Amino acid sequence: MRQRGQAVHVLDIGTGTGLLSMMAAKLGADTVYACEAFKPMAECASKIIAENGFADKIKLVPKRSTDLTVGQGKDLPRRANILVTEVFDTELIGEGAIGTFTHAHKQLLEEDCIVIPSYANLYVQVVTSDLVRRWNRVEDIVVNDSRVTAPDEISSCGGAPSLHDLQLDQLPMDTFTVLTEPKRVFRFDFTGKTSLPFENTSILDCTMKNSGSVDAVFMWWDLEMDPDSEIILSCAPRWAHPTPDNMQWRDHWMQAIYYPYSQLTVAKGDSVKVISKHDEYSLWFDVAMDTVKDNCPEEHPICRCGAHISYGRARMGMLNDPDRNKLYMEILRKVFIYLLDVSTQPVTSL
Ligand SMILES: C[S@@+](CC[C@H](N)C(=O)[O-])C[C@H]1O[C@@H](n2cnc3c(N)ncnc32)[C@H](O)[C@@H]1O
Repeated sequence: MRQRGQAVHVLDIGTGTGLLSMMAAKLGADTVYACEAFKPMAECASKIIAENGFADKIKLVPKRSTDLTVGQGKDLPRRANILVTEVFDTELIGEGAIGTFTHAHKQLLEEDCIVIPSYANLYVQVVTSDLVRRWNRVEDIVVNDSRVTAPDEISSCGGAPSLHDLQLDQLPMDTFTVLTEPKRVFRFDFTGKTSLPFENTSILDCTMKNSGSVDAVFMWWDLEMDPDSEIILSCAPRWAHPTPDNMQWRDHWMQAIYYPYSQLTVAKGDSVKVISKHDEYSLWFDVAMDTVKDNCPEEHPICRCGAHISYGRARMGMLNDPDRNKLYMEILRKVFIYLLDVSTQPVTSL
């Protein structure tokens, strides 16, 4: 903005601690306006900004950005020409980023503004994994020659709608086999040059690198922080990271696992459609053979059977663990034998 000979008017949406506003002020912005929707957080920001000596430089408005007014005597005296904002979660759009950026461009920003971050890319990688599948899909319990089969509505249920976030780098590499390369499925343009869709679908034809059941879709995203895309903030796991030897530890943005709606087994070399969809706040994924019409739901699938609502993913994994079930049955058998033994004793001998 300085190079363009313009005054620098910064807006920080979702200021949280006030950190980004304070950085903008320190770097010499002419004006800095910060807004925060969550009142207790706004109170924290107000104290932090004052204690750091920026109270006269940063104007804090304890409001959601979509409620801000612009004009003389209003929340912002003029539209800003730099937006700096961090309104992302592990799912990228779960905090409402699409609506927040869209509204900001319509109401709060100048047309030739600079937006930090400028773009986001969302990546997926399809895998086969007994361990991961068992965190979601209810499987038969097999002990010796007996098999207990879950009712159809449970075994075919798509699972919990909530995000399954975790640190993929902590998943041992020998517990899953990749079926595809990492693929970019969505690109979000926050610069305002093109409109951000509130709903979108991507269908990619992917050649399977290995054979197996299609059990899960790993997802992560990166941000292109500047308009020239020189500074990349990547949330990729180590094996897909652009700088694997220089990664930041992050516990608020992890990676996520999604479970495909369809149950598909593929052979190496098969061509498979990877279907990705998002609405304003969430993502869901499915797979289909090339020749088959996909049956990916138009709306975010929800658990119909109730089991995925009753049990968390870790608990589901325990219930599906064949070794654990075998051990459990052996212990139960011993207890029953003991009880039977005891119950056949005359009361006087006990
Ligand atoms: C992840 S935090 C941002 C952290 C912040 N940048 C910092 O340095 O501390 C996101 C914050 O944005 C707020 N937020 C999300 N969307 C918002 C919006 N549209 N308007 C105002 N605040 C918003 C949330 O309440 C939350 O405090």
